[in-house]
Amino acid sequence: MKLWGGRFSGRRDPLFERFSESFSFDQRLIPYDVRVNRAYVRALGRAQVLSAKDVRALAGGLDAIEREVACRPGSARQQSSEDVHTWVEARLAREVGEVASRLRTGRSRNDLVATDTRLYIRDAVRELERAAVELLEALVFQARQNLRTMLPGFTHLQPAQPILFAHYLLAHFEMLNRDLSRLEDCRERADELPMGAGALAGAAYSLDRTRLARELGFARVCRNSLDAVSDRDGVLELLFACSLTMVHLSRLAEDLIVYSSPTFGFVHMSDAYSTGSSLMPQKKNPDALELIRGKAATTIGKVSGALALLKGLPLGYDRDLQEDKSSLFEAVDTTRDSLRIAARVMRAIRVNAERMAAETTRGFLTATDVADELVRRGVPFRTAHEQVGKLVKFCEERGMTLAEVNRDDARRFIPAWDSKLARAAESVEDSLAKRSAIGGTAPSRVRKEMVVAQRVVRRWRLQCDRR
Ligand code: ARG
Repeated sequence: MKLWGGRFSGRRDPLFERFSESFSFDQRLIPYDVRVNRAYVRALGRAQVLSAKDVRALAGGLDAIEREVACRPGSARQQSSEDVHTWVEARLAREVGEVASRLRTGRSRNDLVATDTRLYIRDAVRELERAAVELLEALVFQARQNLRTMLPGFTHLQPAQPILFAHYLLAHFEMLNRDLSRLEDCRERADELPMGAGALAGAAYSLDRTRLARELGFARVCRNSLDAVSDRDGVLELLFACSLTMVHLSRLAEDLIVYSSPTFGFVHMSDAYSTGSSLMPQKKNPDALELIRGKAATTIGKVSGALALLKGLPLGYDRDLQEDKSSLFEAVDTTRDSLRIAARVMRAIRVNAERMAAETTRGFLTATDVADELVRRGVPFRTAHEQVGKLVKFCEERGMTLAEVNRDDARRFIPAWDSKLARAAESVEDSLAKRSAIGGTAPSRVRKEMVVAQRVVRRWRLQCDRR
C-alpha cells in the first residue's frame, strides 16, 4: 500500500523502495502516530468534516491498534512499509475497512511526522532525565563517603593544589545539573503542536487546533504552518543536549580511566565494568569508560550531521528531513545508556584514600599556601612567588618535599622562614581549610554544598517521578 500513486504509472525500482523506506527505524513512532491520528480524527469530527459514525469507527480502530502495539511491541518489526504513517493507515484499513481511507483528510505526513517527533522528544527527555538523576545520586553517594578524602587537584594534569574528592565529584554534579536544565529547556521549546499545518499552507478546514494541542498535551500551537513542517529545532537542540552530556560523561570517564590506572591507583574499578586481555593475563581494562568516551565522539557526529542536514534546505518539507530521526534515536539511546552505565560505574568504584592522600604530600601542592602566607606578611606576591619557586627547585633537585627542608636551607631562599611558614608548607589540611569561600574545597564549605546538592537531587527525582 502507498499513500500516493494516482499520478504515477509503472513500478518503482525495488532498490529505490528499499533506499527510501523509513519504517525500519520510524516504527518507533507508531504509538505517537496512532495517538496523533486519533486526536486529529476527533478534531475533524468536531469541525464537521467527518461524520460522528466515521469518527467512532476510525478512533475505535486506532484504539485497537494501540492495544495491540502495547501488548506486542515487536509485532510490527517483521512487516514492511514505506514509513510509519503508511503502516498505521494500512493497519487501520485491515481493522475498520473502507472508512480508513478518510483518515488523512486535510492532513499530510509533513505535519504528522513533525508532531510524532515532538511527542517522541517529550518522552526521550523524560528518559534522559531519569538516567541523569541516577548519576547525580551516584555522585552524591560517593561524595558522602569521601568528605575527608584528599587528593591532588590538577591543571595540565600536573599536581596543582590539594582538593577533596567530594569537591571533585561535586564538580561533575554541577555539569550534570546543567545538562538536566538544558533538557528541560528543550522540552519547553518543543512543546508546540505542528498538526493542522497540512502539507505546508495550513488546514483548509476549520480545525480547533488549540483544543487539539490540549488533547495531545502540547502547551501551544505552532503559529506558522510553513515553519511547523520545516522546523527541526527540537531535534537539533536535543541532539546538542545529548552531545554536551556525552562530553561531560567523557571527561568523567577520562579522569576515572587515569585514576584507575595502577600508576595512579586512586580508584579501583569494579570487575563488573572491566574486561581482560586475550593475550596478557594480568590486564584489567576500563572498557565501560572507554566506550562512553568513544560514544561521545559518535554523538557529536550526529549533531554536526543534523546541522548540516538543515542548513541548505529550502523552506517547506524536504525528504532530506527523514535523516533526522535515525540520528536522534541513536543519540538518545546512547546518551541514556551511557548515563546509566556511568551511574553504576560511579557507585561501584572503590576509592583508595591512602593512595590519594600520599600523593598530596608530593608535587609541592602547598607552594601557593607558602606564598600566600608571605603575602599576609606584606611581601608582594611576585617576590613571594619567586622565593617559593627557588625553594621548590632546591627541594626537587634533592628529591625532598617542602615539609622535609630544614630551616637554614629554607632561609637561603625565603629569609622570613619560620614555624608558621613551615606549617603552611607541611599542612595539606590547612591548605584545604583556607578555601572556605563559596565554591572552594574547604571541608566546611563542601559539607554545605553537599546539603544543597542533596536538595537539588531530591527536586529532580520528584520531578521525574511526577512525569
Ligand atoms: N518518512 C518521512 C520522514 O521521515 C515522512 C514524511 C514523508 N513526507 C513526504 N512528503 N514524503 O520525513
